Amino acid sequence: MENYNQFSLPKDFLWGGAVAAHQLEGAWNVGNKGLSIADVMTQGANGVERKITDGIQKGEIYPNHEAIDFYHRYPDDIKLLAEMGFKCFRTSIAWTRIFPLGDEDQPNEEGLQFYDDLFDECLKYGIQPVITLSHFEMPYHLVEAYGGWRSRKMIGFFTKFARVVFQRYVDKVKYWMTFNEINNQANFDARFSLFTNSGILTRKDEDPERLMYQAGHYEAVASALAVQIAHQINSEFQIGAMIAMIPIYPATPKPDDVLKSERAMQSRYWFADVQVNGRYPDWLTAYERNQNLGLDITLADLDVLKAGKVDYLGFSYYMSAVTAAHKDENLDYKYRENQDLVPNTYLESSDWGWPIDPEGLRYAMNWLNDRYHLPQFIVENGLGAVDHLEKDGSVHDQYRISYLRDHIEQMKRAVYYDGVDLIGYTPWGCIDLVSAGTGEMDKRYGLVYVDKDDQGHASLKRYKKDSFYWYAKVIESNGSDLN
Ligand code: BG6
Repeated sequence: MENYNQFSLPKDFLWGGAVAAHQLEGAWNVGNKGLSIADVMTQGANGVERKITDGIQKGEIYPNHEAIDFYHRYPDDIKLLAEMGFKCFRTSIAWTRIFPLGDEDQPNEEGLQFYDDLFDECLKYGIQPVITLSHFEMPYHLVEAYGGWRSRKMIGFFTKFARVVFQRYVDKVKYWMTFNEINNQANFDARFSLFTNSGILTRKDEDPERLMYQAGHYEAVASALAVQIAHQINSEFQIGAMIAMIPIYPATPKPDDVLKSERAMQSRYWFADVQVNGRYPDWLTAYERNQNLGLDITLADLDVLKAGKVDYLGFSYYMSAVTAAHKDENLDYKYRENQDLVPNTYLESSDWGWPIDPEGLRYAMNWLNDRYHLPQFIVENGLGAVDHLEKDGSVHDQYRISYLRDHIEQMKRAVYYDGVDLIGYTPWGCIDLVSAGTGEMDKRYGLVYVDKDDQGHASLKRYKKDSFYWYAKVIESNGSDLN
């Protein structure tokens, strides 16, 4: 038998990179595109939140409006990704290019044609598009007219959109995901997460926790319906859930801390429980009853969930976290992400304070495998860092290479030693783009540098970073050569 040093990943392993429409396309009002929730978010900074404005306001900076102008430059960009040997390219379809308002009957042909052309360009190089349906960019009109996912009507708008694109790209896309990082909103105290996930702006008289559980339920039903529609259209389609995987370790072996960490994991991952198992986990049924949340969950919904289980599990992995029980902990161990995390003194962090924990990726893959028994797809991973463009056009991003190398190493161990069935790996922001969290350009993840900064300079020229050449070798050797 081969040993670990000779082992390489399966031949059809999907090496690639990941982006989202609103973070790179720009052209926010071109081709009949409607206003999306990403279009009303201003530029923040490291430690400074983005503002969500009431429509477009004069004098504000909206970084997603131009982003890196991928909309007009994608042939050259895809060529660069092909040069690295990409087998797949994960992006999203901007919902507002297809249904500018979200509640119209007919889709916008210009938007559909754009993605036809983009996918053809990818396929020309043997790069398969991997598509997220909803990646923090729902139509803003649906927020204004229906209050976002607090309304059951959203299920119909989403499934109409899903059906249209499944039919249109039936021969061009195999791997789909319904909602990006659907579980970010588990942090329901953060205004940002409820808005980006669900288009919800909480009013003073509303309980954000209840809204989150209600929105999450409608999204789970919409996702399950989309799975069924997709399989009717093409039985070969693979429809995935997509979660932000952040393992939350207990601060100590104290039983109280262990129980707290268990509840933290349950609170973050119930979304995947429902999408994968087709049913609610028992702790959550009890929790919702005990909290008197009074959610709108019908028996018909429960049947839909059962009939629309996902085919694989997509997830992002950037970091791990740690939690500790309070002195006077509640008996239900209620987890509030903005209050209940403590630092991990064993780990270094990125300049944006994200703990760096490659072994956490192997741990996460094991945890997900034991819980879900599904093929996995790592659809985001990476280091946000400040890069320096040298006079000769080079960018020496050794720190990014080290980060990616360490994570790929752990990913390989999870496959070889732990038997995880892994479809592919797509590092985040393979080309520099606008940060979702802060709206910055200077928080870069790319293997390709884009000459644009947060101070208004923007030639938008592309340059290959050192990590570009390194990742090309990784792909060429199918993950054997990480040096
Ligand atoms: C994930 C998102 O949360 O992490 C991406 O799916 C996002 O959209 C990425 O860009 C990195 O986060 P940030 O805030 O550094 O852009």
